[in-house]
Amino acid sequence: MKISEFKLERFFAQHEFAAPYLMCCSDCESWTIQDLLDFDPHATQRLLNLGLGYTESKGNPALRQQIASLYQNIDPAQVLVFCGAEEAVFLYMQAVLSPGDHVIVQTPSYQSLYEIPAAMGCQVDKWEMKRSGGQWGVDMEELRNLITNKTRAIIINTPHNPTGYLMSQQELQEIISIARERDIHLFVDEVYKYLEYDLDNQIPWACDLYEKAVSLGVMSKSFGLAGLRIGWIASRDPEVYHAMEGLKDYTTICSSGPSELLSILALENREQIIKRNRNIITQNLKLLDDFFQQYKELFSWFRPHAGPIAFPAFQQGLDAEVVGQDLLQHSGVLILPARVYDYDHHHFRIGFGRKNFDNCLDRFEQYVKDRLITLIG
Ligand SMILES: Cc1ncc(COP(=O)(O)O)c(C=O)c1O
Repeated sequence: MKISEFKLERFFAQHEFAAPYLMCCSDCESWTIQDLLDFDPHATQRLLNLGLGYTESKGNPALRQQIASLYQNIDPAQVLVFCGAEEAVFLYMQAVLSPGDHVIVQTPSYQSLYEIPAAMGCQVDKWEMKRSGGQWGVDMEELRNLITNKTRAIIINTPHNPTGYLMSQQELQEIISIARERDIHLFVDEVYKYLEYDLDNQIPWACDLYEKAVSLGVMSKSFGLAGLRIGWIASRDPEVYHAMEGLKDYTTICSSGPSELLSILALENREQIIKRNRNIITQNLKLLDDFFQQYKELFSWFRPHAGPIAFPAFQQGLDAEVVGQDLLQHSGVLILPARVYDYDHHHFRIGFGRKNFDNCLDRFEQYVKDRLITLIG
């Protein structure tokens, strides 16, 4: 399979470990192994006694039990553990799609969600998100119009990367009824679940609502544990489940035992982990609201509803890539231009799930005052 470069991942490969002020990370502040061990007085011994042989291919049973407890209608036998979310995305596409299938993908989006089907020879239609009144949104009529009799799968992401848009339960139900009418598969990337700003807006996982849905979860984003490389799918569709299980034999076979154990510890203590991460996000979001209020003639601010990222835009014709390079060079602050999403030249991604965000924003503000305003003239 020939596949185009993953622009966002290449961008991070170049900058993530070189730029001093990362202001566009997609995850929450990470934890140390010690932090996780401190949650449980027996944890250090559990880790030290762990054998380093192969693990169960489906995932450690205790881990699958913990993951299953996140859902309403999923049992551990319907959970399959992968290396990060990315392996699951790759193998889902291989398991479900064939060349010539029609696939609808919500965009802008994390590139693998549309690039892998395209590289496989599928016909990919992008379901573009809409902006209106300072808010992102989705257009259900447009989705209906994109459906053809060859549509095999609809691929969506909520809470959404990069806009922070959170679908309502009504919107998700509508997508499910569109899919159900034609027996279409639904893949829902839900890696930002639990970071909804208003908990009343939290919606069920898609696989709890639709028997042909696969829900994607991961330790990386909401939990702040990307280094564990533990992701999973949950689904009540046995065919998809077994196809993905079989394909995993050709990629990673099984997960890392220490990562599985640390993930169990994190999930056992998920309330504390999520609470800390939500607090960081809430505080940082206030700073962003003030910042964009103060510089509203320079930026369009689309306030997110969930997660640690947002997708504002420069006004006055400023090009996010050109400004981003200048900003990095002069202030060491990294923003992510929308080019990496194959989007426009004005939007950029901000990540505010990290503790040093105030520092990054201060430097960004200084840059805006010292340079951006004079650049505009
Ligand atoms: C929406 C979305 N899905 C999947 C992934 C892949 O997650 P992971 O790095 O845990 O494999 C990412 C990572 O940025 C993402 O933002």
